[in-house]
Amino acid sequence: MNETNGGPQDIFYSPSPDYPRPTFVRGKGIYLWDDEGNKYLDASSGPATCNIGHSNPRVLRAMQAQAEKLCFSFTSTARNVPNIEFSKQLTQLAGPGFERALFVSGGSLAVDMAIKFCRQYRYATGETSRTKLISCLPSYHGMTLGCLAVSGDPIFDEIYSDMITSASKIEPFYHYRRPEDLSDTEYALSCAKNLERQILKEKENSVLAFIIEPVGGSSTGAISPPEVYFKEIRRICNQYGVFLIYDEVLSGSGRTGTFLTHHQWKNAQPDIVVLAKGLGAGYYPLGAMLTSAALVDEITHLTGFNYAHTYNANPLACAVGLAVLEEFSENNILNNVCKQGKYLRQQLVNLQNQSSIIGDVRGTGLLLAIEFVANKESNEPFPIEFDVTERFKKIALSYGLLIYGRRSNNGKFGEHVLVTPPLNSTEEEIDLIIDKLKLTLDELEQKIIKFESV
Ligand SMILES: Cc1ncc(COP(=O)(O)O)c(C=O)c1O
Repeated sequence: MNETNGGPQDIFYSPSPDYPRPTFVRGKGIYLWDDEGNKYLDASSGPATCNIGHSNPRVLRAMQAQAEKLCFSFTSTARNVPNIEFSKQLTQLAGPGFERALFVSGGSLAVDMAIKFCRQYRYATGETSRTKLISCLPSYHGMTLGCLAVSGDPIFDEIYSDMITSASKIEPFYHYRRPEDLSDTEYALSCAKNLERQILKEKENSVLAFIIEPVGGSSTGAISPPEVYFKEIRRICNQYGVFLIYDEVLSGSGRTGTFLTHHQWKNAQPDIVVLAKGLGAGYYPLGAMLTSAALVDEITHLTGFNYAHTYNANPLACAVGLAVLEEFSENNILNNVCKQGKYLRQQLVNLQNQSSIIGDVRGTGLLLAIEFVANKESNEPFPIEFDVTERFKKIALSYGLLIYGRRSNNGKFGEHVLVTPPLNSTEEEIDLIIDKLKLTLDELEQKIIKFESV
């Protein structure tokens, strides 16, 4: 075992970096402390999950109170009070078209549920030929075998595609390296047409659903297609009887400034929304699939929906979810996302203007990202072997800055890190993030200039 390995658990995570990972023992707000007493600033809320920071007193109180009453009850045989309350609050926030909520223990399971629900509906209503899925390349939808079928990453395809039926992948909206001869709207509409072309390539009435992240996460670095793109996607799905699923595991629960991202648009509502990460905000594993009463009620009397997982909607999970929602309404968190999101974006653009390696700043609300390039004139990415994201994260860590960037598709679609602080961050905390990002960038750029190994 070399010194970068932590013991028997390390083999289950991504290949060990050439520097030790910290071992965290405590967290408060936007800060974490390791077992040697070092303090870290959590600029990405973990993987955009700890949306109200660490050790939130309201959530801790709710967890303890619920744990003392009832930790577990099995949803297949009984109801529980936190589940009833949480479903009510969440569906109200989600609005018309999302009157039903199914809770599971994470994002991948929620995506699986959404896909299975679409299939069950078509099966129950006699449209059994509809089995095919369409998603984007790149994209990320989770790690179960079902999710890997829709996640757009050829690395997973190579390993698993002989075992699972992979979705057809379409080219997404990706404004950063778009053709120059098209206006913004023309480009967005041409990207949406990729979906129609793909549906027409498949056998008639074979496509079940199209799944997309309304604002990208780690696979695209916060790519935010405009409203016109999603309106056209909605129109196409209606025309061909295809379910539209928004994977808001990372972008939902307030991160983009509205509780669900499509609340910012008109006529671009999906049939199903999937949430996780910020829903339990790092306090409990929690995911949700939301859809309409009309769809659920229709199949209830036909086949029902077979979905039982032991930990679904357990009382502790739902009590945590409720407390997180209460924290949102009591502290007007959505307003803070809009205000601090604007401020953070401006500070990142200032950094970009001073930096030779930030090619793009993008995103919505407090779901922002910076993309690294070797050449700002041509937008040319760094060579894959340079592994710029990993180098950036390593230097950031030495300044006590935690930043999330997962190199998806082996860096084929650019390299970026997510800047996604907690949704209740203050301006002073954002200034601290910017200071540490600047130190990190300066050091990385110096090392690039000197061709030093970092
Ligand atoms: C957009 C998206 N979908 C699904 C998932 C899978 O969620 P989980 O890691 O909770 O299984 C993730 C996780 O990063 C995600 O970002």
